[in-house]
Amino acid sequence: MDNCIKRYFIITYGCQMNIHESEKIAGILTSMGYTLAENEKTADIVVFNTCCIRENAEDRAEGNIGALKKLKKQNKNLIIAVGGCMTQQPNFAISLLSKFPFIDIIFGTHNLENFKELLTKKLSQKKTLIEVIETDGCIYEGTPKKRTSYPNAWVNIMYGCNNFCTYCIVPYVRGRERSRKKQDIINECKDLIKQGYKEITLLGQNVNSYGNDLEDGSNFADLIKEIANIDGKFRLRFMTNHPKDFTDEMIYAIASNDKICKCVHLPVQSGSSKVLDLMNRHYDREYYINRLDKLKEVIPNCAVTTDIMVGFPQETDDDFLDTISLVKYADFNGAFTFVYSRRNGTVASEMQGQIEETVSQKRIMTLIDLQNEINRKQSDKYVGKTVEILCEDFDSKKNCYMGRDEFGKMVYFTSDKNLIGEFVMTKITKTGGMSLMGELID
Ligand code: 5AD
Ligand code: SF4
Repeated sequence: MDNCIKRYFIITYGCQMNIHESEKIAGILTSMGYTLAENEKTADIVVFNTCCIRENAEDRAEGNIGALKKLKKQNKNLIIAVGGCMTQQPNFAISLLSKFPFIDIIFGTHNLENFKELLTKKLSQKKTLIEVIETDGCIYEGTPKKRTSYPNAWVNIMYGCNNFCTYCIVPYVRGRERSRKKQDIINECKDLIKQGYKEITLLGQNVNSYGNDLEDGSNFADLIKEIANIDGKFRLRFMTNHPKDFTDEMIYAIASNDKICKCVHLPVQSGSSKVLDLMNRHYDREYYINRLDKLKEVIPNCAVTTDIMVGFPQETDDDFLDTISLVKYADFNGAFTFVYSRRNGTVASEMQGQIEETVSQKRIMTLIDLQNEINRKQSDKYVGKTVEILCEDFDSKKNCYMGRDEFGKMVYFTSDKNLIGEFVMTKITKTGGMSLMGELID
């Protein structure tokens, strides 16, 4: 190995937002002359991009940081940097350092764009560098990115969240909502299409409130229409929608252009109006159903995916049954299911009536079984159909290519030719539960 070449390795936890932020860290490191290492053992710098939305994500990150102690002993020059949401919690950096004194850099979500300066500073000093800033008003443009998910490209349209759902730590660690300027987003998208990206996924904690903080009247419905009008064949996706802001205008905007995927991620969280109120979600069961009905009225084949939580404080068996009945009604095309995780500093963590883990576990298993059954039935209906797939990757375990249709359904198929990044037609031959097997059609 050439000793002059410095190598980096990034370990990412959590959501798409974090995956994209790791692409920015990789971009900054690349601009400094670093190249990607095969794994942490061959790296000169290991960056942990953490998530604190649930306790298990934090536990995993801490376990993996701890595991690097041995590596650090063998290689004194190894730099270990920990960033992301976890470090942004009050007093967290200090407690992390007391557990893992061998960490070199601790940085927050708001310092990401300054990572080059942080690393340069650290390389000239011995002691640990802690830089976690509280301000959250900045939007940085022009941060280099080393994208890792071709043919999809992630594009931030806004940062932060104003909603303060009572269970959620995100508003505390990511600050208030701030939108990028429309023209900056459009320019980035145009550039990505020119570079050959075939799918753009717009990212924000609540994309529907895009533009509320801008003075030029920009809003999300107009933004997606404008992006979809960029020349070229590509798919446009976005996440996450908040049902409270999911207006008729949004629905008509989705319907207005074929490039906008008819696939909406609309987290419901619970089917019980009582629980939704305790969660501070600003809608009730009836309102959510009304949004679903309107969406299906305008776009009958629209896929809807969701996030659902069980075991929120004071959730009774009847509340849970409300969730079950809503899931049956909605016929969701996919659901991320979570057991409520008590997060320090949130309103819900102080609520009476925290639910026993055993009760939550039972509820989540029931929910997962139901959703799997729903997805299996949906898969069965695909058999014999011809669908257009954007080929995303080669699955070396299954020894075949995989891609998705516009509704997000995954299809595996074989091909002699590398088709990654191409739109292909496949005929669905059989189902594999959640995913499908297909044959290429010329
Ligand atoms: N516990 C469990 N799940 C949570 N989520 C957010 N906060 C928590 C928490 N404290 C889930 C929500 C959200 C998704 C991104 O993570 O369902 O939509
Ligand atoms: Fe968290 Fe609610 Fe904001 Fe989503 S909308 S990030 S769940 S506070």
